[in-house]
Amino acid sequence: MKDILQTLEERRDEARLGGGQRRVDAQHAKGKLTARERVELLLDEGSFEEFDMFKTHRCADFGMEAQKPYGDGVITGWGTINGRMVYVFSQDFTVLGGSVSATHAQKICKIMDMAVQNGAPVIGINDSGGARIQEGVDSLAGYGDVFERNIMASGVVPQISVVMGPCAGGAVYSPAMTDFIFMVKDSSYMFVTGPDVVKTVTNEQVTAEELGGASTHTKKSSVADGAFENDVEALAEVRRLVDFLPSSNREKPPVRPFFDEPGRAEASLDTLIPDNPNTPYDMKELILKLADEGDFYEIQEEFAKNIITGFVRLEGQTVGVVANQPMVLAGCLDIDSSRKAARFVRFCDCFEIPILTLVDVPGFLPGTSQEYAGVIKHGAKLLYAYGEATVPKVTVITRKAYGGAYVVMASKHLQGDINYAWPTAEIAVMGAKGATEIIHRADLGDAEKTAAHTKDYEDRFANPFVAAERGFIDEVIMPRSTRMRVSRAFASLRTKVKKNPWKKHDNIPL
Ligand code: HXC
Repeated sequence: MKDILQTLEERRDEARLGGGQRRVDAQHAKGKLTARERVELLLDEGSFEEFDMFKTHRCADFGMEAQKPYGDGVITGWGTINGRMVYVFSQDFTVLGGSVSATHAQKICKIMDMAVQNGAPVIGINDSGGARIQEGVDSLAGYGDVFERNIMASGVVPQISVVMGPCAGGAVYSPAMTDFIFMVKDSSYMFVTGPDVVKTVTNEQVTAEELGGASTHTKKSSVADGAFENDVEALAEVRRLVDFLPSSNREKPPVRPFFDEPGRAEASLDTLIPDNPNTPYDMKELILKLADEGDFYEIQEEFAKNIITGFVRLEGQTVGVVANQPMVLAGCLDIDSSRKAARFVRFCDCFEIPILTLVDVPGFLPGTSQEYAGVIKHGAKLLYAYGEATVPKVTVITRKAYGGAYVVMASKHLQGDINYAWPTAEIAVMGAKGATEIIHRADLGDAEKTAAHTKDYEDRFANPFVAAERGFIDEVIMPRSTRMRVSRAFASLRTKVKKNPWKKHDNIPL
């Protein structure tokens, strides 16, 4: 018996060593942790339950029968994050570059199936050279099986990808179908195909960092939702995100104890809006002052900064925030901001996370660059996402709410539940100057008349009261009382029941 126990321990030790000490040292030398160290940091101490530690590949080509490392390049199982169950896979770059074989894929599929069945998030730590070249079509088939599960799990359990190494080919398409992707600065890359192939095919010379580094994907492509300094920070931030999320679409997000008075008044908000309507102010200040303990988890912070998306808690409950940012492009909607916010709204809706919308929007960005790139269709994504969302929706208009963008930003007309405005709100088809130039074009040569027309328009529409008279705004509130009003609004909506008509699925303008 003792021998058998010892054999087990020896096999375990061998499996834990992955691709061997030399490769582990190389991994560390690049500033990267090993697959196992990452799992340990991600999960609560001692909570990891591993599956398939001894699984090996079945490839007999290209000398592969001579190297059959235990675990086949991926560590899989489940554990807890602050006591809540999550399923995890962590690719081991020290074993054949973390490449995906048929059996490697089977291990990932197993935990994904369990996650869906048991209603727990899947966190994938990706550090892989993609399809295992020696296995040919078997490895492609394995990837296909993972992709199909990504799709089926979408909207059922949260899926989070952490990219922690060079990821190419299939290794980027699986993360692309998950809800969030995080990268590590200077040590992670995502590309369909790497710089060498790019050079051969297009003659373009580009570094891995330029082609698919964290900066590229958080600032330019928006493929990634955030980038962190190192593995440790990235894993700590994933833990923080998981705390905001429900385990599945069958559950509500966790309610956390809070130590912040819901009725807390913020007198400084009464002067947040500058006297000049064209002077910007920082919408993040409002978000931080609204949130329990000022805790805000921002998603896509570096991309389309004219709109802000992220999670806060109000009375301990998770709320998704979408807010125009007047500091960037005057807070207008454009292609990038519409896509960013639409995806966020849809995430919140499929996981029953209520949405708070803070509005200061002068309209859609005009011009050929936007029109040629399809702002009509991309802008419609946000309109569509808000209009179909059945979660509790509370909106606060702080200043401008002009034109189509007024309608888009969770207005009453798109099933907004409770729509508030500050006294500084201006709800109109457009700004007074632009409106005057169109409806009083004949008087444009006469400065005095034009000024009078502009003032007329301002008096009529540069306020929230016309919309309030029609019931499009439920109440004009004092800025200082926003946290209290919004918290109470969401509290009143906790029992909301709302269903859209049955359909196979919708046809959002992709
Ligand atoms: C088998 C692989 C591998 C792969 C890396 N290795 N990628 N083995 N299949 N796909 C092995 C290497 O042979 C090496 O083994 C070890 O992993 C480390 O690789 P290095 O090249 O030494 O590391 P590095 O210089 O850091 O470069 C990492 C890399 C590069 C950028 C990922 O290895 C690379 O370009 N790999 C190929 C990427 C690729 O084209 N994959 C196929 C994509 S197609 P030793 O024994 O020396 O340690 C695909 C199709 C999916 O994924 C289809 C779905 C749509």
